[in-house]
Amino acid sequence: ARITLRQLLDHAAEHDYGVPAFNINNMEQALAIMAAADAVEAPVIIQASRGARSYANDIMLRHMMDAVVEMYPYIPVCVHLDHGNEPGTCVTAMQSGFTSVMMDGSLKADGKTPADWDYNVGVTNKVVGMAHLGGISVEGELGVLGSLETGMGEKEDGHGAEGKLSHDQLLTNPDEAVKFVKETKVDALAIAMGTSHGAYKFSRKPDGDVLAMNVIEDIHRRMPHVHLVMHGSSSVPQDLQDVINAYGGKMPQTWGVPVEEIQRGIKNGVRKINIDTDNRMAITGQIRKILSEHPGEFDPRKYLKPATDAMTKLCRDRLEQFNTAGKA
Ligand code: G3H
Ligand code: 13P
Ligand code: NA
Ligand code: ZN
Repeated sequence: ARITLRQLLDHAAEHDYGVPAFNINNMEQALAIMAAADAVEAPVIIQASRGARSYANDIMLRHMMDAVVEMYPYIPVCVHLDHGNEPGTCVTAMQSGFTSVMMDGSLKADGKTPADWDYNVGVTNKVVGMAHLGGISVEGELGVLGSLETGMGEKEDGHGAEGKLSHDQLLTNPDEAVKFVKETKVDALAIAMGTSHGAYKFSRKPDGDVLAMNVIEDIHRRMPHVHLVMHGSSSVPQDLQDVINAYGGKMPQTWGVPVEEIQRGIKNGVRKINIDTDNRMAITGQIRKILSEHPGEFDPRKYLKPATDAMTKLCRDRLEQFNTAGKA
């Protein structure tokens, strides 16, 4: 059944688990997530970005979401808009059957310019007002995602803030977080603590200097009942990098967010964990492998099936690691 983010994260808080939010753009990714959820009896969050909506079309996405809910009636599924950039984007998602929307007011509508307090509170309030009238949940974001190593916003294939950012912008201020939730009444709060979107998050295995889990602990101590969201939470596993590079890929060595750091977050109020890059890499590694081992192959099912299975494995690992397994 389709459920809201609020319903799901309230249950997660009560039972001490986290829920991965996996991005989709196509049928294979939707099927991969549901196969994993089914195998371990877990609830899931399926999220679509603005890019996914323009890639797949809202009508196609709506029917895919309907289809997977019908295929797996006993799996609770939250259908979430990832990084809505303005209230209108959130409204059209609600009209398309999303049960939850993210109003990301940490950046202006251009998705690049860091926003000020009044702008963020203003747009977030506007979306919460409308969404809550219809029983739809809202995720807000305070703080700008980006690297504490370089001070840069998003890099490579990720998107986000442009130009150099200060530590003040890159780390959510715990006092402001309390005030933000009070003023906006968001159902979940995304915070900034050193992660960024895409594969190139850290130039070495991250320690406390570049991945500020203490910020999460501070915020959780001040408001233990608020559901926190970690964006940019792909772990960028070495084995997935190796498969891609073994079959013609050229990804420079990189590090993501270690699973044990996410587990530490879950002990401190993190309830939603956003993962896209790991799944993209799992899929691409298999497609590269099959096409290079079987250069005569031209039936897309021959490489899309192993790609889907690799994504299912990744999703299943995270559902087990975040203790989502068994909670459906
Ligand atoms: O926020 C980043 C997600 O990975 C979605 O990425 O905007 O390229 O679909 P996208
Ligand atoms: P990754 O790029 O680390 O998978 O993060 C995805 C994300 O935060 C989507 O909102
Ligand atoms: Na989101
Ligand atoms: Zn994100």
